[in-house]
Amino acid sequence: MAIHIKEDSRQFHLQGKNISYILHILKNGQIGHLYYGKKIRDREDFRHLSKKEFRVTSSYVYEDDPSFSLDMIPQDYPGYGTSDYREPAFHIRQPDGSRISNFVYQSHSVNPGKPSLEGLPATYVEDEREAETLTITLVDDYTDMKLDLLYTVYHDKDVVVRSARFTNEGTQAHQLDRALSASMDFPDSDFEWIQLSGGWSRERHIHTHPLHAGIQKIQSTRGTSSAQHNPFIAVQRPGTTEHTGDVYGFSLVYSGNFLGQVEVDQYARARVSMGISPFDFSWKLEPGGSFQTPELVSAFSSDGRNGLSHTYHELYQKRLARGRWRDKERPVLINNWEATYFDFDEAKLQSIAEQSSRLGVELFVLDDGWFGRRNDDTTSLGDWFVDEAKLPNGLKPLVDKVNDTGMAFGLWFEPEMVSRQSELYEAHPDWIIQAAGRHPSTGRHQLVLDFSNPEVVDYIYERMKAILSSSNIEYVKWDMNRYMTEIGSARLASDQQMEVPHRYILGVYDLYERLTTAFPHILFESCASGGARFDPGMLYYAPQGWTSDDTDAVERLAIQYGTSMVYPLSSMGAHISAVPNHQVKRVTSLKTRGDVAFFGAFGYELDVTSMNEEEKERMSEQIAFYKKHRALFQFGTFYRLQSPFEKGGNETSWMVVSEDGRQAVAASYQVLARPNPGFPRLKLTGLDPETEYRIEGLERTYYGDELMHAGLQLESGYDGSQTGGLEESGDFSSQLFVLTAVTNSTTMDEVEK
Ligand code: DGJ
Repeated sequence: MAIHIKEDSRQFHLQGKNISYILHILKNGQIGHLYYGKKIRDREDFRHLSKKEFRVTSSYVYEDDPSFSLDMIPQDYPGYGTSDYREPAFHIRQPDGSRISNFVYQSHSVNPGKPSLEGLPATYVEDEREAETLTITLVDDYTDMKLDLLYTVYHDKDVVVRSARFTNEGTQAHQLDRALSASMDFPDSDFEWIQLSGGWSRERHIHTHPLHAGIQKIQSTRGTSSAQHNPFIAVQRPGTTEHTGDVYGFSLVYSGNFLGQVEVDQYARARVSMGISPFDFSWKLEPGGSFQTPELVSAFSSDGRNGLSHTYHELYQKRLARGRWRDKERPVLINNWEATYFDFDEAKLQSIAEQSSRLGVELFVLDDGWFGRRNDDTTSLGDWFVDEAKLPNGLKPLVDKVNDTGMAFGLWFEPEMVSRQSELYEAHPDWIIQAAGRHPSTGRHQLVLDFSNPEVVDYIYERMKAILSSSNIEYVKWDMNRYMTEIGSARLASDQQMEVPHRYILGVYDLYERLTTAFPHILFESCASGGARFDPGMLYYAPQGWTSDDTDAVERLAIQYGTSMVYPLSSMGAHISAVPNHQVKRVTSLKTRGDVAFFGAFGYELDVTSMNEEEKERMSEQIAFYKKHRALFQFGTFYRLQSPFEKGGNETSWMVVSEDGRQAVAASYQVLARPNPGFPRLKLTGLDPETEYRIEGLERTYYGDELMHAGLQLESGYDGSQTGGLEESGDFSSQLFVLTAVTNSTTMDEVEK
């Protein structure tokens, strides 16, 4: 049993594999929080875990009970205005102008499995026995508003999945000005905060700092989850490492504006809150209507950050991503963007396809520029008709020719945008996100289509459906290249304008749902100027995403390391591009670029027709190597070993291990070469201590315990002479170790004897 109910004391003890989460109903009918962390035994009463105390400066609810101050009591979905001065989880403006709500426990139910959330991405079960869901229903009698709080625990995982649903059972409309997904109070704040932040081309870098008094927060107001902040925060105990220590993660399954914050109060306690950003948000809840928040996946690990990541990877890979491609090995692809940009014709595309197919590439992706009159980024978004100047025979003959080479064909779209110079904008200037009477700003010469308007979504669906049905298209790269400005919709009433960003994302989800249902064989890859919408919401529809436009091997170390905090390797598009790199102009070896890109959904982003024979030979070796170990790279257990965000960042290492522990690949990267360096060792992890491993290229075998505790001596590539050393040493170098368990029962020691 995962959820224990104590009817008399009105307590709820939720247990996952190694976690406990304990709630109770407070004296005033609201929800109190008792415990969240490592699993503890069940017992009849947990009230002793929270002790009420009187403080003379507090406001309190009951005249005869000065100790009942909500400011003092740990809560789980707190409201505003009744003796708690910390930030609430929700805020409702009522017809009489009041913002005070009083949601009181009414009932609860426990059901096997996990319900889906209408119109929203969500984690799921395949068998009802995998999880249990507790729904606590509260009502506010004065306004006839109902609040359902959902808590799901999976029996074999360490997550609590939460969301909230408001239903207006009254006769007048209410304004939901804040409706977060979850909030919870910790009894102390002795934590370090972690966030994944950056910008275009440097997404999801890890930032850590100790919690401080007051509010620390990240948010997006850009209309999408953004490159600036990922919808994820974590708090870890000081001293926590990748391998040891307590860490709590909070990951929002949502792709729009969000807020993640921790408030440290006057008693140094921490309140974690997360959900749709309340800034510029308000939802008119009509009588009979309801509002469902996105879900928050909170995970706990007492085995450090790798433990936390493994929980997210497993859940998101198997119970968030969906469809035929979820468990399938992803094809090695080549994308023509950096090879040609907008300057291509059928012959050029065909020669890239033919040559790359000979080297083992499995999927050819035609990127931006195939439609309308799109010879640069100033025109044609929205005109989803093949550009016959570039492809005079249309798409089908090209797709057929690519298929003839043995490769699948993939196509780029940017469904949510329209160029000012386009037939679509000329016909429907009112179909864009815009505030009445205001000049609409542009970004990359484009405007954002109003996906809060179902008519717009319908139109784009029909156009995409026509293209996708016209030939054998097996992959779609769904791009999105600008943030929202002057937010508003011509279709919505003035008191609903603040609903636009959320309605827009619901429109995006709707289009994704319709297309993935109509074309279940297509592999969708999400993209947003690289990784500006790389979030759990997208993973529900597209099992992989373009991690970043920055394909430089050194920059990718930080990006992929940070991204792996939450997202599995199978979800991270990782390509080798040409040098000098187009984003940072750095020149790195093909080997280093490969050694970084192998750890993800691997591909190329370069002009294969301009490579020399030796490079092509290397490329074909890389592809063969990747295919041989593809299941391991995409679906193995990933461990971060050495962070590029620590110790000066010159070294990074990580590894991936197969489920049975008999195969592994470890990699170590060095940014700048050092003269006369020390003798660093790489300590591996996740191996079977008793198993003997052979490492490709090394003569000896090693036992798992030796590799994990004594470690492998790394090659510095430096021998003191000016000419000696490793072939691939110097700046931006990498070493890859391919481990295989010695298969027969005879150990290598015995063989040698
Ligand atoms: C941004 C993407 O991240 C790139 O990979 C490429 O598809 C361009 N857009 C095309 O405009």
